[in-house]
Amino acid sequence: MKDTIRQLIQQALSQLVTDGVLPEGLTPAIQVENAKDKKNGDFASNIAMMLAKPAGMKPRDLAEKIVAALPADEQITQVDIAGPGFLNFFQNTQALASRLDEALADATLSVRKNGPAQRVVVDLSAPNLAKEMHVGHLRSTIIGDGVASVLEFLGDTVIRQNHVGDWGTQFGMLLAYLQETPATSDELADLENFYRAAKGRFDESEEFAERARGLVVKLQAGDAECLSLWTRFKDISLSHCQEVYERLNVKLTPKDVMGESAYNDDLANVVADLKKAGLLVESNGAQCVFLEEFKTAEGTPLPVIVQKAGGGYLYATTDLAAIRYRSNVLKADRALYFVDQRQALHFQQVFEVARRAGFVTNGMQMEHMGFGTMNGADGRPFKTRDGGTVKLVDLLDEAEERAYTLVKEKNPDVAEDELRSIAKAVGISAVKYADLSKHRASDYSFNFDQMLSFEGNTAPYLLYAYTRVAGVFRKLEEKGESFNASEGQIILDAAQEQDLAARLAQFGETVNTVADKGTPHVLCAYLYDLAGLFSSFYENCPILAAENPEQQQSRLRLAALTGRTLKQGLQLLGLDTLERM
Ligand code: ARG
Repeated sequence: MKDTIRQLIQQALSQLVTDGVLPEGLTPAIQVENAKDKKNGDFASNIAMMLAKPAGMKPRDLAEKIVAALPADEQITQVDIAGPGFLNFFQNTQALASRLDEALADATLSVRKNGPAQRVVVDLSAPNLAKEMHVGHLRSTIIGDGVASVLEFLGDTVIRQNHVGDWGTQFGMLLAYLQETPATSDELADLENFYRAAKGRFDESEEFAERARGLVVKLQAGDAECLSLWTRFKDISLSHCQEVYERLNVKLTPKDVMGESAYNDDLANVVADLKKAGLLVESNGAQCVFLEEFKTAEGTPLPVIVQKAGGGYLYATTDLAAIRYRSNVLKADRALYFVDQRQALHFQQVFEVARRAGFVTNGMQMEHMGFGTMNGADGRPFKTRDGGTVKLVDLLDEAEERAYTLVKEKNPDVAEDELRSIAKAVGISAVKYADLSKHRASDYSFNFDQMLSFEGNTAPYLLYAYTRVAGVFRKLEEKGESFNASEGQIILDAAQEQDLAARLAQFGETVNTVADKGTPHVLCAYLYDLAGLFSSFYENCPILAAENPEQQQSRLRLAALTGRTLKQGLQLLGLDTLERM
């Protein structure tokens, strides 16, 4: 609906340009918001205030001209001018109802992508394979997966790239340790211990450290023995990751792994090509690109170092090779990077160098979807009681255990098996949803009590809301009736019906916003709101005790659409709904 209104305003503005009321060449971003107070209409725009100055008119006068020039549309019944010059739009309830009737008959709930389908590379998860996955990798994995699903739902071709850290100096240390204490696969199964032991040796013995550094060089030069040790290590580490992905119900597979090592052979080319492009400057023996956009506060230019004085390549060099691959080979129209906010400068630099060097096609969009730090409930960086990093598997175990206690309390009579499976779904969903529901750019505090609460914008609340909708249809069947979605139509009489309907109709634009901005929290907020509106509807508008069969069918249709929207929305976020809990 907001899009329709934007188009109507756009047409009115063009008309006003033709009429000489507005100067040519204005390209304002037309804002349309949900109205704060229903009495003043359903949607509001501040366009008249935005254009008053360039038009040389008072906002209210311009508003009147815009309203006069607005084309008629059957979906809008009335447009008012309010306050300093807001345009308030009232939507046609009948038209709203028939749009919802259409959505109910459509496999994708009438959701369409704004704009053409694209090939999108999504860079997500990307743990460092030297260690086990820890909470720091949760955000990239979960948020990246949610956005990837949304893009797929809208018809984009998504190519997931798990840019794992499998090639740094740490591997020399691990290989040296593997050589000196040939570990069995069982011993390696606990990567965390193995890493700690290797690090201990590295720190205590200069001779060991020397050997470790030598092994990195040998590994990177393709030494067969080193490569085979490295492969063994990497496979075990990756299978750990895969277990976590499956438990988290994210769509990453081993096929999506395209680690740093994959670009090793291309790094020399990257440097040579930057040189050809005239972008390289030698500084203290290192090969650097200087871009005038990037300076320190004192105005000293910041280099992007692509090769160290000793010949070694850097994180940025690998990312330049990767972005070129994503453009040339994967043919991406858009590349999204779900990586810690602290790497913001790195990505700005990589994107800019890639553009200048012609490593990417002109039109390719490159976006760093940064996220904040995950803290403990105390607001400090998340750590175990003894100050260590929290392993992801331990965290998920605890979530499931806590969910079990909670679910058992609520349903003492449910069979153990079912309890366990509900607890699993609730526990994992709670962890995921807690992350997804916060704006990714802010730091967030991990808090089991909060995320497992049945109140507020949480997974248990939403999963429960879904079971309430499902319950309506169970009760219907208990009465010996059944629901047929192709019968009847939606009639919007009660205020609660209208409010629920208006929100249901905004699923498509919500999903599109998530796709544009990479912000799943917008979808979470929407679903939370929808669940609340359903509650009011459910309490105020009897469904199975409706006044007549038409009204019952209309309300069932609204409930069915709510159920499907909640289920689809949660599924996009990577949460499986339950029929009862
Ligand atoms: N492995 C890196 C880290 O743990 C993240 C990699 C993100 N992706 C990328 N293309 N740089 O910080």
